[in-house]
Amino acid sequence: SAAEKGGYDYFMLKEIAEQPRAVADTLLGRIDPSGSLTLDEVRISPSELREIDKVVIVACGTAFHAGLIAKYAIEHWTRIPCEVELASEFRYRDPILDGRSLVIAISQSGETMDTLMALRHAREQGSKVLAICNTNGSTIPRESDAVLYTHAGPEVAVASTKAFLTQLVACYLVALYLGQVRGTKWGDEIQAVIKDLSRISEEVERVLETMEPVRALARTLASKNTVLFLGRHVGYPVALEGALKLKELAYMHAEGFAAGELKHGPIALIEEDLPVVVVVPSPRGRSVLHDKIVSNIQEIRARGARTIVIAEEGDETVVPYADHLIRIPATPTLLQPLVATVPLQVFACELATARGNEVDQPRNLAKSVTVE
Ligand code: AGP
Repeated sequence: SAAEKGGYDYFMLKEIAEQPRAVADTLLGRIDPSGSLTLDEVRISPSELREIDKVVIVACGTAFHAGLIAKYAIEHWTRIPCEVELASEFRYRDPILDGRSLVIAISQSGETMDTLMALRHAREQGSKVLAICNTNGSTIPRESDAVLYTHAGPEVAVASTKAFLTQLVACYLVALYLGQVRGTKWGDEIQAVIKDLSRISEEVERVLETMEPVRALARTLASKNTVLFLGRHVGYPVALEGALKLKELAYMHAEGFAAGELKHGPIALIEEDLPVVVVVPSPRGRSVLHDKIVSNIQEIRARGARTIVIAEEGDETVVPYADHLIRIPATPTLLQPLVATVPLQVFACELATARGNEVDQPRNLAKSVTVE
């Protein structure tokens, strides 16, 4: 009913708007006043966590994209090798696991059969399983050794939005916690990021306040057949997520690529007026990546692409090459997905509406996939 949707036309719009709150709720009580992390629900002891020599993340769809981003954070802050695998592929390839592997299963619903089967397989190999889940008491956390709940609240729309942002928060918390427990050389950076994370929900709110031009742009693209998404580093999984949202909601051909792969094939797809969304990393920090992606934007624009550039406030180098410029707040590199994903959600939702599609219940899809 309209009341359930809180005055929004669709649950998806309501859930997009709830993201600042969902992010704040997921952080609540997990960062103590001294700026260190307390994750009581993770019932794998610090001494066991110090023994871990490999992290393997299993998940499907949007949760898999959260896992891809987690890999960058986990490897950087903990120096533990991390693999990310589609849950549906995992157990069939005879993965190498033992008691020193930590398997992280990410699932909004906690009922996804592919993910459940992957975690059962991991436990049979003697690995510890940590669930990151949004649904209290669901099967995946019940069958795991430990759980870190995301506090997104119920997500009704089939297309995942607020669950994704809270999965990212949970992944960052796990990465930072592992770093803290293991005392890596990134101690100072970890402290700084914990501070940034505690302010991030305000940044997500600021992004939401500036989405009208994104909606207007989406409406102009309603008759297009294809949209490409490019990103690097953590912007690559953001590009994949932007493309998945567009497939699910707008039923358009959408593909995400690592921008560095362009010259290895995808650039052949570029043609006059093809919309290409580019997620630009911060010019601070890993500035080499920033400069490389700016030259990618130049390359595709020279070949006629219509460039839709998502870039940090104050990044002026992209201005000459952006047909459309979407600004996001400056964040530490690894946290950028929390703000960069939001315009892509709004973009897909508005395109779906413009194409007359059912936003909350896209064709052929179910909210939780309980068959393999
Ligand atoms: C997201 O928009 C999708 N509907 C889908 O990819 C989803 O993320 C996937 O099925 C995993 O679901 P889960 O998080 O409930 O396990």
